[in-house]
Amino acid sequence: MRAAITAIGGYLPPDILTNADLEKMVDTNDEWIRSRTGISERHILKGEGLGTSDMAVEAVKVLCEKRGISPMDIDLLICATVTPDHLFPATANIICDKIGAKNAWGYDLGAACSGFLFAVATGSQFIETGKCKKVVVVGADKMSSIVDYTDRATCVLFGDGAGAVLLEPTEDDNGIMDSILKTDGHGRHYLYQKSGGSVNPSTAETVANREHFITQDGQPVFKAAVMGMADVSAEIMEKNNLTSDDVAWLVPHQANLRIIDATARRMGVGSEKVMINIHKYGNTTSATIPLCLCDWESQLKKGDNLVLAAFGGGFTWGAIYVKWAY
Ligand code: UT7
Repeated sequence: MRAAITAIGGYLPPDILTNADLEKMVDTNDEWIRSRTGISERHILKGEGLGTSDMAVEAVKVLCEKRGISPMDIDLLICATVTPDHLFPATANIICDKIGAKNAWGYDLGAACSGFLFAVATGSQFIETGKCKKVVVVGADKMSSIVDYTDRATCVLFGDGAGAVLLEPTEDDNGIMDSILKTDGHGRHYLYQKSGGSVNPSTAETVANREHFITQDGQPVFKAAVMGMADVSAEIMEKNNLTSDDVAWLVPHQANLRIIDATARRMGVGSEKVMINIHKYGNTTSATIPLCLCDWESQLKKGDNLVLAAFGGGFTWGAIYVKWAY
């Protein structure tokens, strides 16, 4: 038995932060942002008391409507996020409560920008073993809650959003075919949130030092991302005897257009087969890949070979080979 993606849903908050808006906030310019990253605008979740779960709820509702199921049918919900509503309890629990998924259990999974891939690989196991029939995997992040809008090196990069997929069993020759996932903790200090965890709990000083925001040393992350994402994408193709002609779509994490281009070049895949929406949404961390699937859903055909690939903080990276199931 294999797990297949049988429905998808996405949500982007209505407020938009453009490069022109950022020009008024920090010393940056539209030309730099577009040429170095590919980003023109990003969506931002505004509103008192709204968090990651609120975007995830909307994405899961869309998915349930599309598939014609009730939240009561969900067995397990995994939420990949680096911006949980609270450090505990898990945002997955909160999502289940808000949508009325009373028969589901759930947990959060933290693998930064690779979180969605790690969660799909994990969720698939519960389908393959026969333990669950309907697993929802959510990738959701309110990055604006941990972005320092006085730091031009990071504030231009990130946006908010949520995407979700439903995994169900299939005996077809489609579904989640293979995955290669990797971590390397040596990279942990190049992209992280310095304080607020158990090593540096929050104090007035850590807050004053802005240590609860994202800290990134862009260059080393860029170099590791180009190599990691391209290598793992080529590796999964080779392992599954896929040529570039066999690949219908590359679905890359959207951190930087230059990283995406390098991955596509390494795979020998033409730009017409690469899902790119970074210009509209920026880097939504766990949500980038499911949001791409949502934007391209109408163009996907049963049996299409997709390579999903990501690289993120940790370091974490990986690729999943999916044969589209509907
Ligand atoms: O999704 C999780 C994984 N994250 C990533 O994959 C991100 C990987 N890193 C990157 O995408 C790139 O490193 C960045 C987009 C973050 C930065 O691009 P870069 O080409 O590596 O630029 P840089 O950091 O080397 O900075 C080049 C110059 C510097 O000025 P000097 O020292 O050359 O005078 C920066 O101060 O650009 C300057 N700069 C900016 N200028 C205008 C940095 N940020 C900005 C900005 N606007 N927003």
